[in-house]
Amino acid sequence: MRRRTLDLLRCPSCAASSLVPDADVAEPALIFGPVRCLGCRRTWPVHEGLIDLAPERANATGLQQAMELPWVARSWERYVRPAVDAVLTRGQLDRDSEYVAMRSMLGAPPGPVIDLGCGPGLFLKKLVRDLPTVHVIGVDVSRPMIEEAMAQFRELQLAADFVRAEAPPLPFLDASLGGVLASGMVHFVADLDGLLAEARRTLKPRGRFVASTYDATGGVKRLHQSAGLHPRSEDALKASAERAGFIRFERIRTGPVLVWSAELP
Ligand SMILES: C[S@@+](CC[C@H](N)C(=O)[O-])C[C@H]1O[C@@H](n2cnc3c(N)ncnc32)[C@H](O)[C@@H]1O
Ligand SMILES: [Zn+2]
Repeated sequence: MRRRTLDLLRCPSCAASSLVPDADVAEPALIFGPVRCLGCRRTWPVHEGLIDLAPERANATGLQQAMELPWVARSWERYVRPAVDAVLTRGQLDRDSEYVAMRSMLGAPPGPVIDLGCGPGLFLKKLVRDLPTVHVIGVDVSRPMIEEAMAQFRELQLAADFVRAEAPPLPFLDASLGGVLASGMVHFVADLDGLLAEARRTLKPRGRFVASTYDATGGVKRLHQSAGLHPRSEDALKASAERAGFIRFERIRTGPVLVWSAELP
């Protein structure tokens, strides 16, 4: 992984210190081996472009279990996501329109951008191509999803670094990021307030949090909640963003799907 990605990371164990290469190499541009926390001295594995900051994570529950199956990761872009999109939006919002909406809400990010819950990298690939001068990093808790993304990046000869981590927290230093993009991810997170508080901590002034998610009511909502998902209304998203200190809440709604953004002062 690239040194400039390592320089953004914060140790998830002691939540205080920076990570440095474990090997005794002066200022390497690329990191191949483990990295060490300057505070608690804990080491974290690095393989190719992936740093694993969730090595001892317990097994996933609910629908997240599916996100951690290799066959779902491999078929996500071609089969699974289109099926989910068709059910949620009844064909009203295709993935390209979703990306265009999110990209325009992201604006001109004042620093590195993370694709949180990047999955196999559908939007990460677009970001890397659209923002060639911006440092873009993929973050996901699912190892098979990141492995699929890395395979696709190798095949397409695109470069990105990947961080395996379960949010919240976000394993980045304070005020280190210019944008957080999270497509189809926030409804997997029970603690949205906690996630947005972390986005607030890690974003620079004027940095934006941009997400796509969906709303549901009544029995459908309860059914989804029983599968470990957290559909939320526009009002709930806005209130959570405001509690975290974000301003300028914007949203585009297509059926139950909400593409929304909020900005730091
Ligand atoms: C529905 S997929 C969306 C993938 C991709 N962003 C897209 O739009 O096609 C949700 C992704 O979020 C990841 N995810 C879920 N909860 C997460 C968490 N707490 N921290 C990091 N990633 C998470 C899952 O592993 C999965 O890859
Ligand atoms: Zn530490």
